[in-house]
Amino acid sequence: MSTPLTIFHCSDLHFGQDCDLDQIAGMEVLAAELAPTAIAVAGDLTQRARHGEFQRALVFAQAMRRIAPTIIVPGNHDVQWWATPFNVIGAKAKYEKFRKYFGDDLTPTLVIDGAVLCGVLSSYGVVAGSMTPNLNDMAVKGHLPAGETDRACDRFAGEPAGFLRVLVMHQNLLRGNISRRMGLANWRQAWRAVENCGADLVLCGHDHEEATGTLPNGTVVATSGTHTARTRGGRASACNLITADATSITVQHHCWDRAAGAFTAETAATFPRHRSREHHPSGA
Ligand SMILES: [Fe+2]
Repeated sequence: MSTPLTIFHCSDLHFGQDCDLDQIAGMEVLAAELAPTAIAVAGDLTQRARHGEFQRALVFAQAMRRIAPTIIVPGNHDVQWWATPFNVIGAKAKYEKFRKYFGDDLTPTLVIDGAVLCGVLSSYGVVAGSMTPNLNDMAVKGHLPAGETDRACDRFAGEPAGFLRVLVMHQNLLRGNISRRMGLANWRQAWRAVENCGADLVLCGHDHEEATGTLPNGTVVATSGTHTARTRGGRASACNLITADATSITVQHHCWDRAAGAFTAETAATFPRHRSREHHPSGA
């Protein structure tokens, strides 16, 4: 990779009554200014999976696509889980509206020069795999089936060795700093699967607090915030700019400055690209 590639990463826009449209306009300005190589929208585009919310989300997606190739995955708020709890009439009905506006493929892959971004589905509504002993988690937590990371692993294997391998998913893979909550049921199993699939970077959202960190093997995880008033601890909303070169990945948060009516670049964290040091793919 000769020149660094950049990914504008946002999530949890929650179009509907809580969405801050000033921030949405601000994000469109910011993304255009940053001129990223790619854009990743990591789910929860809507609040209640309503047609009008999806339609507004589509307008945002169209604005992003004018700036750079864009990958979008659904979040738990985009899933009409009540249409088919526990998949009693199959899984199809709960994704019907998302598919109407964003296409049949719930797990798209985006290949750009120097990177492959693979969407994986972690939001399934009320199903056995996402259940935990805590009833408050119902329809909120997700899970990461082995088939999702296996597909990503296969997809990653088909790209040049130097390509940045990125998973895009909704639920936060790391524990929230303020919430102390994991986004996934069976998160240890998910961590192992993500480590084994060869991802360099995971882009997620859901916890409404921006964060960066790594899995035990060094896989970098970036979590984006929300563009509603429902931030953790009254914090400013944040989205991320990822910059990657051959040896490092930098995650920079851009936080909403309400008085200025604009996002401003805040702290950045830089991590080594762990596969540049050592990588043991699944089964190796
Ligand atoms: Fe969410």
